[in-house]
Amino acid sequence: MNATISSIGIYHPQKEIKNSYFEEFLDTSDQWIRERTGIENRYYASENEYTTDLCVKAVEALAKNHNTNLQEIDFIIVATSTPEQTLPSVASQVQTRMNIPHAGCIDISAACGGFVYGIILAKGLIASRTHRKILVIGAETLSKVTDFTDRSSCILFGDGAGAVIVEASTENHLFKVITDTHGSYGKDLYLSNKNIPINGMPIIPDNKIRQNGRVVFKWAVSTLTKKIEELVSKNDMTLDDINFFIPHSANIRILEAVCKELNIPMEKCLESIRNYGNTSEASIPLAWYDGIISGKVKPKDKLLLIGFGGGLTCAGICLQNNIEMK
Ligand code: COA
Repeated sequence: MNATISSIGIYHPQKEIKNSYFEEFLDTSDQWIRERTGIENRYYASENEYTTDLCVKAVEALAKNHNTNLQEIDFIIVATSTPEQTLPSVASQVQTRMNIPHAGCIDISAACGGFVYGIILAKGLIASRTHRKILVIGAETLSKVTDFTDRSSCILFGDGAGAVIVEASTENHLFKVITDTHGSYGKDLYLSNKNIPINGMPIIPDNKIRQNGRVVFKWAVSTLTKKIEELVSKNDMTLDDINFFIPHSANIRILEAVCKELNIPMEKCLESIRNYGNTSEASIPLAWYDGIISGKVKPKDKLLLIGFGGGLTCAGICLQNNIEMK
């Protein structure tokens, strides 16, 4: 059974956080943040606004954008590292809040790779003919797990959500995929409230995101460079066949380094880092949506999506864009 993606919706919280916000309590500057990360702005959820709330808003936006009948959805996958509860899942809360009568529901944990992992799982469920219309959401409220005393990490993160529907189709628009993980780097990017070593290394168990920024940066550049080439060749394509690359937006310098290495013009790389910061699972749908709304991404365009992050793990897919805003 073939699959396609023809609908998208996004949401970001209302509270806008400019770089100058951090200048008030940290030894940092707007200039440092822009030059070293590309970030100019991000949004934070309010105190009583949680990941499920962002998901619901993104799904409402999707339904409005495409006049979608949500009742037909038969599975919901939410990729998030910041569920407000361990149980119940965010997906099951979206199911009840959106009145979707009968849907299997799971949350998945693959950090910034999660949205692409969600699409890959949905593609597999459709191929196995067990499900036909699957809601895949990437959503984060990272501001709730940010250490605001750590200037090298707190300036990076933002909150947001993006939703797509992966559905059975006569034509196949979702092509071959790649997945890869280097678990030995687990200690270099973690979020834990348990005092249990990772890779034998002691950790800070304070439920805040902790990272070794330089290690993650280097890993991301070398892994993305290799995996993008591997993915296009697996699809019998060349880099020139891809209209737009949408890697996870973690730092504009990571994207610039990968594009330089692969000789891809930056105009072909869609990002969400400038306006939203690093929103983890939400960053790819936010960039995809902005690409469509700005008129850059058109129906039939070939896209390469690639997520990477905590694990350290990575997942990519080539697809044909079938989303159009009427
Ligand atoms: N403002 C001012 N100076 C800062 C700063 C800030 N917000 N954060 C760090 N610095 C300082 C450091 O203390 C260091 O100072 P020193 O030279 O006196 O020791 C200097 O800037 C350079 O630090 P470094 O860590 O080498 O900076 P960097 O260029 O690697 O940028 C990150 C740091 C975190 C922005 C960058 O490594 C990064 O984006 N890594 C990837 C992280 C990531 O993607 N995580 C999520 C994956 S999904």
